[in-house]
Amino acid sequence: MVRGKTIVLGVTGSVAVYKAVELASKLTQDGAKVDVVMTRSAQEFVTPLTFRSVTQRPVVTEMFDLEAEFSIEHVSLAERADLVIIAPATANTIAKLATGIADDILSCTVLATKAPVIVSPAMNVNMYENQATQENIARLKERGFRFVGPVYGRLASGAMGLGRFTELSEILGAIHQVLGQDGDLAARKIVVSAGGTQEPIDPARHISNRSSGRMGYALAEAARDRGAEVILVSGPTALTPPGGVAVIHVQTTLQMRDAITDAIRGADALIMAAAPADYRTATRADKKIKKGAKTLTLELVENPDILSEIKGDKSDFIRVGFAAESDNLVENAKDKLEKKRLDLIVANDITATNSGFGTDTNRVVLIDRSGKMTKLPLLPKSEVADKILDRVAKYLLHDVINPVNSVIIMLTQSSLKSPERRVRIPSKGKYLFPHARKNVELHTYDIGIMKRYYDPKFQELSIGKWLKVHPELKPGDKLIIEVIKPMKSYRLKIV
Ligand code: CTP
Repeated sequence: MVRGKTIVLGVTGSVAVYKAVELASKLTQDGAKVDVVMTRSAQEFVTPLTFRSVTQRPVVTEMFDLEAEFSIEHVSLAERADLVIIAPATANTIAKLATGIADDILSCTVLATKAPVIVSPAMNVNMYENQATQENIARLKERGFRFVGPVYGRLASGAMGLGRFTELSEILGAIHQVLGQDGDLAARKIVVSAGGTQEPIDPARHISNRSSGRMGYALAEAARDRGAEVILVSGPTALTPPGGVAVIHVQTTLQMRDAITDAIRGADALIMAAAPADYRTATRADKKIKKGAKTLTLELVENPDILSEIKGDKSDFIRVGFAAESDNLVENAKDKLEKKRLDLIVANDITATNSGFGTDTNRVVLIDRSGKMTKLPLLPKSEVADKILDRVAKYLLHDVINPVNSVIIMLTQSSLKSPERRVRIPSKGKYLFPHARKNVELHTYDIGIMKRYYDPKFQELSIGKWLKVHPELKPGDKLIIEVIKPMKSYRLKIV
């Protein structure tokens, strides 16, 4: 996702600067062109040479450095950027950005850019909590700046508090999320499950399986990178939770079922890459079971089949399952597809080399509802994830093919009188809001973005607040609603 993108990394004077070196290195390794811009105080902590060495690119430090690649035309750096990230960001830089001061190359670049900006603060807790800083952050958030962190932890002073530079995985997650926000899964909510579950026997032992969670984590990251809002329900794994994804940790199959049931509200798809234990112990011993007996019998009871139970609350809810098989791969997978009434099943032979549990690669067969089979070669799990999501995006799109992208509505006496000023979407415009969440964004040319309530049952939109700004409107007047992003944002204009 970051491959080929130009990322401007603004670095300011904080002891956390050394972590920005790692960030620059990681982004460069992932194929991004990283242009580092350093403030004077950042250079007190780390020299530009360090960043130059990891990015293999000139580092910008001065406004008027005639030797530098960007020299006088520093604005071109702002224009070229696909994304600007300031990490770490000090209270001083945040204050400058909030007030529009442009007295160094970094603040100039941010002021001149139209690219999305991510800010990752790091500072002393009192400076962070100071009203001035909080107001500056709130102001920047309002303008669309995205903040990641800070987190609670040990600060440079040695004290504990809120102000610590956040984890790199969180920052990388936010970068991927922002760069992918217009992807083919934008405005979609996707729930992914990952990892095996553990069924406790006693306080020290459990029953589990060999699932590492890697396939599910790869799916969650790939869906995030394509613009989806992702909830990852994960069994215990050794993996780092991906940034930009809401992660819910569970231990047992029953907990996984409950977490997914909650997460699924309003979701467009469930991808069950997890390996939930099919059985749990009938009772859990309170104390560690002591050895001594020659044999030990555990009584197991059946767990629910999560995928079969979950129906979703949208008519076109997509369900994808996995079939981990050691024999009769295709027949067993087809059987599960049928029994669990899935849209797609991903069959993998867990006995094949480099495939299945605990590996970074997978060799799978995709089987869809019509029985069509697609055998994929051995691929990294990230690529398998993309192939699966290609299908999910296609199925979702198929149901949403939009024959119109705008509709004209006429204001009536009753819509102007109803308490919430509800306007009915005419039937030819029903494709505009096919499966809208209840809250959609209405952009208007005069008052920016507002969240509005859309009632899918009656195909009505409440526009009370918007009408307040237009008291001149009367019955018979016409409005046009245009789709910006299906199901998410719409634009409202007086015709
Ligand atoms: N699954 C589930 N709930 C369970 C067990 C499995 O939702 N209690 C899901 C898995 O996440 C996977 C699919 O069902 O997407 C198939 O899982 P798999 O373990 O291959 O098959 P099972 O249905 O458990 O059948 P068996 O173990 O007999 O092969």
